[in-house]
Amino acid sequence: MDIKRRLIISNTITLIIPFIVTFLTAYVFIFVSTKVLHRDMSYDNFKRLTLIKSELLNIQGSLSGQDGIEETTLQNYLLRRLPSINGKFIILKGSDVVASSGDLNKIDIEKCIDKSRSLAPGRRISLNNINYIIEVSELILEDGTRGSVILLAPAGKEMDLFTELIFLIILVFVGSFVVVNIISSYRFSKRILNPISLLQKAASEITSGNLEYEIPEEGDEEIRELCHDFETMRIQLKNSINMQIKYDDNRKALLSSISHDLKTPITSIKGYVEGILDGVANTSEKLESYLKTIYSKAEYMDGMIDDLLLYSRLDLKQLPFNFEKTDIVEYFNDCICETEGELARANIKISLAINLRDSRFVMMDRERMRRVIMNIIDNSRKYMNKEQGQITIGLRETNSSIIIEIRDNGRGISSEDVNKIFDRFYRSDLARSGTKGSGLGLAIAKEIVEGHGGRIWAVSHGEEGTSILISLKKMVERSL
Ligand SMILES: Nc1ncnc2c1ncn2[C@@H]1O[C@H](COP(=O)(O)OP(=O)(O)O)[C@@H](O)[C@H]1O
Ligand SMILES: [Mg+2]
Repeated sequence: MDIKRRLIISNTITLIIPFIVTFLTAYVFIFVSTKVLHRDMSYDNFKRLTLIKSELLNIQGSLSGQDGIEETTLQNYLLRRLPSINGKFIILKGSDVVASSGDLNKIDIEKCIDKSRSLAPGRRISLNNINYIIEVSELILEDGTRGSVILLAPAGKEMDLFTELIFLIILVFVGSFVVVNIISSYRFSKRILNPISLLQKAASEITSGNLEYEIPEEGDEEIRELCHDFETMRIQLKNSINMQIKYDDNRKALLSSISHDLKTPITSIKGYVEGILDGVANTSEKLESYLKTIYSKAEYMDGMIDDLLLYSRLDLKQLPFNFEKTDIVEYFNDCICETEGELARANIKISLAINLRDSRFVMMDRERMRRVIMNIIDNSRKYMNKEQGQITIGLRETNSSIIIEIRDNGRGISSEDVNKIFDRFYRSDLARSGTKGSGLGLAIAKEIVEGHGGRIWAVSHGEEGTSILISLKKMVERSL
């Protein structure tokens, strides 16, 4: 649920529930009073009693301003107004009764005077089993003496019940409003404030470098989304830091490999140059052979530095690719034409096995891909150990890709090493001791193939040879 909706619902509930509770309480109260206590709790009765009370208060109000009033005028006034509400009166001059409604006997009058002296609000008196409200008005009579008028109006027993009902309604409404408010605030804080404080804790943990602190997704929709985004940020931050550490480790490994691989030819160049300087190469043949060795070592270093530069530029994505729509069959026919002469000299046959149905086109940077293919073919030639070598380039397709498999019958790669050959500077021990190479060929191939959005991998056939496979996305030709 979102916060806005929760707020609206919680506010509505806070209002509606007290109303319902109050309504039910009033209903039960009226029900019990009517059906059990047999009181008249009807609206008409309520109206009637309210009218009587207000009329009585009106009369009392009109008397309070009447100082210097003559007794008979006062009596007539009361006789005129009170019958409409069945009211009665007693007029006192000092403490003497000067006039009263005819149906009040002495005992009633005494009771009324007693009652009128008590200060309790809402004074009631019961005369002949009838409940009366009693109100007193103080005034100054015509002759200057202090007088008072005691007013009585029949209240019925329900008058108290109505007052109680009103009190009950107010009490229940306020009470239930407070309780519902507390509950809804508690729930609100649980759904919103708790997750926020968790988030706050997580943020401070992350700030202090603890990137393992997981952020639970709790609370309302917006808060959950916030937690989710925060968690994504934490994971990305963690990954980027891990990546940074990995890069640093890689850089160190790279530096040590480069130093090692460049150190070896330089040491031998130094040795040969010292030989020449010391006069060990004392014949012209020896000198020529020394110089040739020095030249080939320098060439090797040159090649290796070129590979290194190319690799690092590919790795940094600094080299743009020039993709062109290419007919893959034509392309490999060209590759075979180019290499078959040299391979034949090494007693290796090369052939193309085409197994394509629909498409033969891919988007490719021909120059860079040629480098990849040539490196793979060159490896097959370098690591060939059979009398009659055979390289087969197979082309087949899946739903979305074209798979190029370059398979040789060379000495093979052990299955543990098969995934390492694409690492930079990886060379098997045998390759290190024997053939030339920088160990960067397949690492460069991997960068180039991945730059095409493709994939490169190797499959070992044990001593039977090796397959290097490349998958490239095929172009879908739309027929109109
Ligand atoms: N066709 C293959 N047959 C056997 N081993 C191979 C083959 N291709 C690659 N390798 C192994 O993978 C290593 C890495 O190849 P590469 O990156 O091209 O470097 P390089 O050719 O300079 O040694 C080689 O040193 C070799 O040990
Ligand atoms: Mg190579």
